[in-house]
Amino acid sequence: MTEMQYRRCGRSGLLLPALSLGLWHNFGADHPHKLKRDLCAKAWDLGITHFDLANNYGPPPGSAEEAFGKILQKDFKAHRDQMIISTKAGYHMWDGPYGEWGSRKYMLASLDQSLKRMNLAYVDIFYSHRFDPNTPLEETMGALDFAVRSGRALYVGISNYPAEQIKKATAILRGLGTPCLIHQPRYNMLQREPEVGGAFESADEAGAGTIVFSPLAQGLLTNKYLGGVPKGSRATVNHFLKESSIDAATVTKLKGLNAIAEKRGQTLAQMAIAWVLHKKSITSALIGASKPAQIEDSVGALKNAIFNAAELLEIEHVLKKQNEN
Ligand SMILES: NC(=O)c1ccc[n+]([C@@H]2O[C@H](COP(=O)([O-])OP(=O)(O)OC[C@H]3O[C@@H](n4cnc5c(N)ncnc54)[C@H](OP(=O)(O)O)[C@@H]3O)[C@@H](O)[C@H]2O)c1
Repeated sequence: MTEMQYRRCGRSGLLLPALSLGLWHNFGADHPHKLKRDLCAKAWDLGITHFDLANNYGPPPGSAEEAFGKILQKDFKAHRDQMIISTKAGYHMWDGPYGEWGSRKYMLASLDQSLKRMNLAYVDIFYSHRFDPNTPLEETMGALDFAVRSGRALYVGISNYPAEQIKKATAILRGLGTPCLIHQPRYNMLQREPEVGGAFESADEAGAGTIVFSPLAQGLLTNKYLGGVPKGSRATVNHFLKESSIDAATVTKLKGLNAIAEKRGQTLAQMAIAWVLHKKSITSALIGASKPAQIEDSVGALKNAIFNAAELLEIEHVLKKQNEN
């Protein structure tokens, strides 16, 4: 069995597993409870101590937190102090003017609801899920600081923040005495915005760690789509990954990457995870899974997480060549 690595999150005292499990998909009321338990159990058995949620994960919104609360109660009761559980508020959660974005009113009401759904006294990390251009950052960061001071959260984070706002938000939090633990952006071989936009550097300079979501580009960076779009894959079951985005040019790119992964003796999923983890700013790769076996495959990335210069160049070549099509 692959041994999990635990990596320091920025300049904090907290270690996070190199791979963390997200409950965005497959934890709603539309999936059997047994599958959710099996996914969490498999992650736990492989050393994944960090479980990432948000108020709106479902469907319906809130149901992933409810399911996770039940799993905690039944399967993990003895392990609360060995787990890092995060939730977020920012996207639409309830009707009316106080059900989304970054006001103190919304953030704290949402956190209270999340704690209730999960039957928890506190979460380990509470995030602002997105930057709100219409609320003073001081207010949103003040709500995060209060979440910690009132015992509802141990640490705070921000997600999907542009580089400039990371700088401002982390400075405000530092001033309040609640340093920002972590930033959570999307990042994978196909979607590299934090690399060009300066988000990694901004988090590094502030002493915050970075946990990247969708390191597999929602399953694209696996061997799943090499021969077309299989039934039951994410691209066929919801609108977040569009079947139309898996065009011939993308499949050519995936095949090129898969050939490199094969030479490295790993699956494409494993290479995609190893690739994000070899970047110095990144603390953890936040994966999703629809089957326990996928988690096992993904954790296998740690068996070969080092790239030589020639491999990195070859990957860039495949990605660049494809972009020109
Ligand atoms: N902060 C934010 O705004 C934000 C946004 C999105 C996600 N997130 C977080 O990031 C987490 C992960 O996001 P994600 O689910 O998009 O991550 P991902 O790891 O890129 O994609 C996961 C999906 O890829 C497929 N897959 C996973 N491992 C595989 C393997 N080894 N072989 C073949 N297919 C595999 C599965 O889809 P199939 O259904 O096709 O099997 C799985 O559900 C979320 O749960 C959430 O916690 C945060």
